[in-house]
Amino acid sequence: MNLPKIHSITKKICVALLGGFLLVFLLFHATANLFILRHDEGAWYSAFCHFMGTNWIVKAFEIVLLGAIVLHILLTLWLALTNRLARPTRYHEPQKSKTHSTSKLMVWSGILIFVCLIIHFCDFYFVKLGWVKGEYMVKTEKLQSEEVMGLVQFAQQMEMTPEELVDQLEAESAMYADENGDAEEVAEYIGKMRDQLAVINIVQRAQMEGNITEDMQWVRHLTYEERQTLKRVLPESDSEPDFYYMAREKFSHLHIVIGYLFFFFVIFMHLRHAFPSAFQTLGLNNYKYNNIIEVLGKIYTWLVVLMFAIVPILVYLGL
Ligand code: HEM
Repeated sequence: MNLPKIHSITKKICVALLGGFLLVFLLFHATANLFILRHDEGAWYSAFCHFMGTNWIVKAFEIVLLGAIVLHILLTLWLALTNRLARPTRYHEPQKSKTHSTSKLMVWSGILIFVCLIIHFCDFYFVKLGWVKGEYMVKTEKLQSEEVMGLVQFAQQMEMTPEELVDQLEAESAMYADENGDAEEVAEYIGKMRDQLAVINIVQRAQMEGNITEDMQWVRHLTYEERQTLKRVLPESDSEPDFYYMAREKFSHLHIVIGYLFFFFVIFMHLRHAFPSAFQTLGLNNYKYNNIIEVLGKIYTWLVVLMFAIVPILVYLGL
């Protein structure tokens, strides 16, 4: 097989630099996740996710991050493949070299992390992209649009509930539509009113079930279908995934907690070697500093993995 020729040290340096960038992201992500542990109805975590989802610099960073992950994986696989192609006949003696088994471990743990990451994206990130259904939240003020409130006030004037009003309008307009032959337009008009009614119901249900945050800023626990209705009636309402609620709900199931702990264990195995080997590849190691790098690597790995792990564990225990 003819692969384009890039010197393997160049590939290694790229892998190390991209890996270093991912190490910074992981620490940032693990720190932000700690907000999930606050019992503040998600005020801090939702504010953080809202910022992450709306700030254009962060959005650009997200593309760079995903690109870095893909490139890091592709380059590692390419390196592994070129190493293998350079030695087509396998050794008869089992390999005892430490470097060889470490790099094998890095490739396999990397592949496992990729698989876990896709599952993790299905849990959260793909909900934001609209590829997977989740739970959503919307700013309360956005629901109080003139259109929707107008229907409520009109119903109050007629001393009816909004539902009774729409039912009556539908019955009356069906008669006129038959006479005038504009049934399609009438059906569309009534359809719009029914959507507005659905938005009123979302607010009423939220009030009844206590799904409005204490500071009255957000209406939470919207279903995918409710979100679609909202988009039709109030296209500018900008509902977003309720990641705080979704994380707390998911981590109330033992099998999901165990799955995530497995994910963190694989990350632990990967990072244990990633940190010192990135320094080595970049030529930043030196016999004087080797011990410091080793200790720093251990501190970083334990810190990040424990910060990740503490979230599902404490949420599961109801703390
Ligand atoms: C307790 C564990 C974790 C929780 C609760 C969690 C939660 C989340 C949430 C809510 C998002 C979507 C954020 C947004 O797009 O605004 C997200 C995205 C992401 N997560 Fe995690 N995560 C966890 C662990 C991890 C781990 C261990 C990794 C890496 C190996 C990881 C990598 C990512 C990446 C790459 C994204 C997409 C980029 C981004 O949106 O920032 N996550 N995670």
